[in-house]
Amino acid sequence: MVYYSELGFVNTKEMFRDAFEKGYAVPAYNFNNMEQLQAIITACTMTQSPVILQVSKGARNYANQTLLRWMGQGAVELMKEIASQNNLKEIPIALHLDHGDSFELCKSCVDMGFSSVMIDGSHLPYDENVAVTRQVVEYAHKYDVTVEGELGVLAGIEDDVKAEHHTYTNPDDVEDFVNKTGVDSLAIAIGTSHGAYKFKVKEGEEPPPLRFDILQEVEKRIPGFPIVLHGASSVLQEYVKIINKYGGNLEGAVGVPESQLRKAAKSSVCKINIDSDGRLVMTAKVREVLWNKPKEFDPRKYLGPARDELIKMYERKNKEVLGSAFRV
Ligand code: G3H
Ligand code: 13P
Ligand code: ZN
Repeated sequence: MVYYSELGFVNTKEMFRDAFEKGYAVPAYNFNNMEQLQAIITACTMTQSPVILQVSKGARNYANQTLLRWMGQGAVELMKEIASQNNLKEIPIALHLDHGDSFELCKSCVDMGFSSVMIDGSHLPYDENVAVTRQVVEYAHKYDVTVEGELGVLAGIEDDVKAEHHTYTNPDDVEDFVNKTGVDSLAIAIGTSHGAYKFKVKEGEEPPPLRFDILQEVEKRIPGFPIVLHGASSVLQEYVKIINKYGGNLEGAVGVPESQLRKAAKSSVCKINIDSDGRLVMTAKVREVLWNKPKEFDPRKYLGPARDELIKMYERKNKEVLGSAFRV
């Protein structure tokens, strides 16, 4: 058993209390490799934002679960170094399992030093979702690890599984779910979706707004309870254009407008999950460098610029979208 506090992580309790009180959302950024992790830590330390480092099941399969945990631990040391070099405060970092799909997976993350886990039973019948979520909460809370549950199904791609349609969260269920399971935060479906193709819109048209009416109903049923938004990438068009210009094809890629996320962050939404935007930035920069410098074969020469661009993107998200900058 490895205790997360000994690794320098915090759980999400205090983060969400502060975010709720002050009307911002804590960024939850996914990482699978070193450059993404360096960029997240650099951006969040430099903008003095708390951060949730997310590891998905896919990330664990890709990069090895043990290595990722050690990388997370290394990230805490990197954060301390950056803070001290720049005369800044140290920031709170949570290490979080994204979309855990079984009790066993969640348990193994708790046991290896994660400070927070998500059990995603949203695809299960309601009673089964309650049961598995309750089981995870009972185990995780013994070690003060916080638990995120989910009600409602997001459209899009998750761990290579595609859901065609949203099932919006039913506000009538949330109070019962929270009481029966004891979760610390709840992910809801209000129109966001995973991946780079969130809406089908014609050129120049705005995507449909998120269902803030559902969010408001949820807030009435569980006042003050931290809400999580998954699938919150904006699919920044400047990067989609770079990818398409340098040999890619992401025709029709559309995300959630940042103005919608800004609005959500001011409400009870305390955690906003962003993965695809980071993937797009990285891909755009790598394509651009390799296209312009066909003789380049040193990975540092294309992953380095990708990392620099990621830092800029995360810093801007913290400052302009989530409102999490300068909260530490
Ligand atoms: O919600 C899904 C996240 O973007 C993680 O994606 O399962 O491909 O690592 P992944
Ligand atoms: P995006 O695909 O919109 O980045 O969503 C990420 C996410 O929800 C991770 O859990
Ligand atoms: Zn998600």
